[in-house]
Amino acid sequence: MSEEPGKLTRRIFSPAMDSVHERFQQWANAAGLHFSVDALQNMKIRWRPPERALSAARETGGLLVIGSHLDTVRNAGRYDGPLGVVAALACVEQLQAWGTSLPFDLEVVGFSDEEGLRFQTAYLGSSFYAGLFRSEWLALRDDSGQTLAELLESRGTNPRQLLSRQTAPAGVLGYLELHLEQGPQLEELGIPLGVVSAIAAQTRARLRFVGKSGHAGTTPMSLRQDALCAAAEAILEIESLARASDGLRATVGQIRAEPGAGNVIPEVVEFSLDIRHEQDHCLTEALEKLKDAIERDCRLRRITVHWEILQQGKSVPMSPPLRRTLQQAAEGQQGPTPMIPSGAGHDAAIMARLCPVGMLFVRCREGLSHHPDEWVSPQDIEVGVTALLDAILAVRSSPPDKTHP
Ligand code: GLV
Ligand code: MN
Ligand code: MN
Repeated sequence: MSEEPGKLTRRIFSPAMDSVHERFQQWANAAGLHFSVDALQNMKIRWRPPERALSAARETGGLLVIGSHLDTVRNAGRYDGPLGVVAALACVEQLQAWGTSLPFDLEVVGFSDEEGLRFQTAYLGSSFYAGLFRSEWLALRDDSGQTLAELLESRGTNPRQLLSRQTAPAGVLGYLELHLEQGPQLEELGIPLGVVSAIAAQTRARLRFVGKSGHAGTTPMSLRQDALCAAAEAILEIESLARASDGLRATVGQIRAEPGAGNVIPEVVEFSLDIRHEQDHCLTEALEKLKDAIERDCRLRRITVHWEILQQGKSVPMSPPLRRTLQQAAEGQQGPTPMIPSGAGHDAAIMARLCPVGMLFVRCREGLSHHPDEWVSPQDIEVGVTALLDAILAVRSSPPDKTHP
């Protein structure tokens, strides 16, 4: 279910996302579960265990949310996101089949925009779910120039009413997410599961270099103000800083040059920057160094450079009680289980502002992700789903601290 033939690309508010929801709706209906999609296109499948429906205490037990995201990067693999949503639904179906009683409801959630492919800002879906959506995001534009507000309108949602419609669910006990590791550590250790300790801090920015266009054949090299050469120098500066700094990851993944003709000196160049570190202060220091270095180079080239910060997220630790719960569940499957920091972003980083959060990582082949060859073995998925199920059952006997956050 993709927007592009021959590759998997699925952005928020795409027909491909609607198709995925239809498929989940069929599964939810077949299992007798309540299915809904909210105004920001987050999918929710709710299970109220049968005894709880009858219980006088039903309003006090709360809600355990489990899931992941259903949007993808461009030319994505098949596991990043959907694996965690399918795993969550599988857990609910198993608990139903066992006739398990729980003192809380379960909600399987498929967040709509974790990758940020459409608007270059991640987590729009989970931010709305958690009641943290900000009105200025309505002005975000996609590549076709459409704003988020216009997209909402085209789907019958009045953007002016969006904020009043965002109601975070009440009584959320916690959020659990199963996700492929997207790195090589579990494969190196030869085990299927790890537990996430924290999600790295990340900043997403857009840099704009402005020089002067001119004739490619007649303008002497010494007189040029070539924005693309300045951008190229900046990209290499970014790479060398990241290579020299332990734990720093920096990526330029999108670039655009204007006027974009082979025989014209580039006047304006924009590129994206995604930069991450597990420790907030290391990320802040790296950004300061980069700003100084790029500005210095641009001054020499007579180029002006503008930084637009699109997103800034601090490092997010997982909840200690849910970490322990997941670790015990994983240990039941495989013995000793490591804690692994996540360099990748996850909706759990947003959900942490609503409730205690925990994440389980499943080994993937060659640590590969954001690539069509991404792969997780069915055996590892089975071990992961079993551990997730055990963790849900453990939350039944010892819920995480309800006073969070
Ligand atoms: C999402 O996968 C991200 O970390 O960018
Ligand atoms: Mn991803
Ligand atoms: Mn993901």
